[in-house]
Amino acid sequence: MTEKYNIGVIPGDGTGPEVINEGLKALNAVSTRCGIDFKFETFDLGGKRYLKEGFLLSDEVIKDLEGTDAILLGAIGHPDVKPGILETEILLRLRFELDLYINLRPVVLFPGVETPLREKGPKDIDFVVVRENTEGVYAGGGGFLKKGTPDEVAVQESINTRKGVERCVRYAYEYCRERDREKQLTLCGKNNVLVYESDLWYRVFNEVHSDYPDISVSYQHVDAMCMWMIKNPEQFDVIVTGNMFGDIITDIGAIIQGGLGIAAGGNINPAGAAMFEPIGGSAPKYTGLDIINPIAAICAAQMMLDHLGENEASLLLLQAIKKVVKKDLISLEAGKMGHSTSAVGDLVKQYVLS
Ligand code: IPM
Ligand code: MN
Repeated sequence: MTEKYNIGVIPGDGTGPEVINEGLKALNAVSTRCGIDFKFETFDLGGKRYLKEGFLLSDEVIKDLEGTDAILLGAIGHPDVKPGILETEILLRLRFELDLYINLRPVVLFPGVETPLREKGPKDIDFVVVRENTEGVYAGGGGFLKKGTPDEVAVQESINTRKGVERCVRYAYEYCRERDREKQLTLCGKNNVLVYESDLWYRVFNEVHSDYPDISVSYQHVDAMCMWMIKNPEQFDVIVTGNMFGDIITDIGAIIQGGLGIAAGGNINPAGAAMFEPIGGSAPKYTGLDIINPIAAICAAQMMLDHLGENEASLLLLQAIKKVVKKDLISLEAGKMGHSTSAVGDLVKQYVLS
């Protein structure tokens, strides 16, 4: 064994534990094949525990998670918990307290995977969205006035700091340089209406550009970008954007790359903790049926290997994933894969080991 990594594992709710099992199966196979040593520590967080014990998250758990080399998350979400509680108290709190200021979302269509975009193929859909992950409307600024009365006022503020914007933009330039494709970075904003927020982003984006003369840049309004991601996704290499726009456009990204069965993302502090997740959520109606697609969770594990600098292992796992989706899966949709959840994980494991 060469390296030893402490991995925090949050299986979470719904189908989270099922897909995480397959993610860990893949990592164990990689461990055998590449001699990487993982120590997994499970953290019981999510709606199920909240309903049972009233527990959401504590400073102690945050400290323990901060001490890991990376975190793998299944899903947080429960149909019996009011929207907003688990999201703000667990997911967003982790993003803020661990300062996971980058949300990295590769949008790549693998060969053999169906996209709803007629006439588009793997060579057209291959880009990465760098989403700011700790500011904007997600920072939670705002409040009510005269709540529940006819005079009610609801204010939701978007908070954008120079520091927060700049570190995200710099990360995107660096990422674009390292990705080494078209070296083309697009800023997604709305500077014709958000004349403060998007103005700051636009200025920082252009200022930082002087440190990256090898990168060519462009700008798109978010509404136009939603159209272009569908009409001409081949024009994108790396996109950088704020938190809310990033949340929205990455769901378009997920569907054009084949859907929630395959879309994964990373919440990253480049100097500290990082948490990787399938972005599909807890999928209550598929829970416990062994029919959910675990590929997205396995892709999250692959992104984690990449983040840890285990490039060879990451490539090996990526190749195994690509082989399974091309050769074995009839569809990426839950219940339509032609295989059970665990059988898909077994196939990935087999390809990693062979
Ligand atoms: C995401 C999710 C979260 C977000 C929710 C669950 C709070 O949609 O990671 O994209 O809005 O960021
Ligand atoms: Mn989202």
